[in-house]
Amino acid sequence: AYVITTGCAGVKDAACTQVCPIECIHDAGDQLVIHPDECIDCGACAAACPVGAIFQDSDVPAGHAASTARNREFFL
Ligand code: SF4
Ligand code: F3S
Repeated sequence: AYVITTGCAGVKDAACTQVCPIECIHDAGDQLVIHPDECIDCGACAAACPVGAIFQDSDVPAGHAASTARNREFFL
């Protein structure tokens, strides 16, 4: 699944939500988050985000590991 990191906070451009084919991106308040079990790994959101806040979970940058948990925990 793809993960939205803290780079989204304060920006919330929402371009990601417009390109996601299955609408699995939701507003968590300070930032948007991706439903990890619904995401089909198409990559469209990552390409659309103007601040590069979205990464595949296997490719989340060091220092953003907490974002992976944040995206998952929102949907628990
Ligand atoms: Fe949606 Fe594709 Fe991004 Fe997953 S990778 S959240 S399916 S746009
Ligand atoms: Fe946030 Fe980028 Fe989407 S800023 S709302 S992850 S397009």
